[in-house]
Amino acid sequence: MESATRDAFERAFGRPPVRAARAPGRVNLIGEHIDYCGLAVLPMAIERAVRIAFVARPDARVRLVNADGARFGPREFDLSTAIDPAPRGDWSNYARAAAQALAREHGARCGIDALVAGDVPPAAGLSSSSALVVACTLALSEANGIDARREMLMDLCARAEHYVGVESGGMDQAASLGGQAGCAVLVEFDPVRATPVPIPAEWQFVVARSAVGVEKSGRAREAYNARVAECRAALAGVRAAPAARGWPSTWRALVADIEEQRLLALSSTTLDGLLSRRFRHVVTEGFRVQRAVRALERADAAEFGRLMDLSHASLRDDFEVSCPELEALTAAARAAGALGARLTGAGFGGAIVALTRADEAGRIESALRAHPVAARDHDAVFRASAAAGASLGS
Ligand code: GLA
Repeated sequence: MESATRDAFERAFGRPPVRAARAPGRVNLIGEHIDYCGLAVLPMAIERAVRIAFVARPDARVRLVNADGARFGPREFDLSTAIDPAPRGDWSNYARAAAQALAREHGARCGIDALVAGDVPPAAGLSSSSALVVACTLALSEANGIDARREMLMDLCARAEHYVGVESGGMDQAASLGGQAGCAVLVEFDPVRATPVPIPAEWQFVVARSAVGVEKSGRAREAYNARVAECRAALAGVRAAPAARGWPSTWRALVADIEEQRLLALSSTTLDGLLSRRFRHVVTEGFRVQRAVRALERADAAEFGRLMDLSHASLRDDFEVSCPELEALTAAARAAGALGARLTGAGFGGAIVALTRADEAGRIESALRAHPVAARDHDAVFRASAAAGASLGS
């Protein structure tokens, strides 16, 4: 633990911290808006992380102080199986989410004094919120002597986060817990599994944040939940078609068992325009993830980049989660020579990710940094390296 963290903890709580939890953010490389359909996705954990210094308490009180106290004031609540949420958008709701799930599912009773710090940019589509849920879950598990397996935590954290009112899937939590240095993480669901896939050394992913912030539990919440409901309706609509008699019931089995063109042909004659576009995104993105994993395994950067471009177009045209700023940044990355570029995370604002050869990354970064719609702080554009998953330390 850094001495600045230790000092800040002592100033806040009058005693030294004992343990530290670290949970990274993530950048999703491909497989967007399909995790909640149970389809595999391919993110990677990044070096930016939420870090919590903490001490277990003998009672149920959870006291949180944020290192960025000007933006995120101190919060307190009691750990229980029914924790009242703070107002919508309040940062402590992610800690409340973790605490309630651990109390309900593992009988957690002990609270913590905790100093929360980190460098995952918030509201950027890089999963600062899930990193906070994961870090709090690790800290509270440790304080309560809960010995948790990674997959169990992935599952628990994903469900816990529904507390904030977003029906999100399990990608972010699995990436944060399952990351490995130098590797993308193939996340599969039901049951959740995270398999590392090495990224060739000469590949470089560059992340650029747009000036449009996107808070999952804020402005984007209704639009996100609407997509989840539309996907459900699209699947039900296709399955009800007489021509789909005998087809499997889940997206995963459909993508595994039925040819892409047959799925698309049936959906376009069965569903209305909007649901048919949503269906097409989910199916084509599901197949793109499979192709992207193969491209990664054979170090075919051109093909991986092409799939990123196709993913972006599908998110824009069929899933309708892009915005002018993300269009401008992906176009700028491509114009500067990126092999592919796409919005990353839920969309509606936030960030893009571009793939380039490492020796050409500087040119892409300069073009993105100079773009008028990029965020204006020093941290708006950065090279993302695949980092290790969440951990506990001292
Ligand atoms: C958010 C959610 C994820 C996932 C992405 C879109 O990050 O938390 O579960 O659905 O959006 O791919």
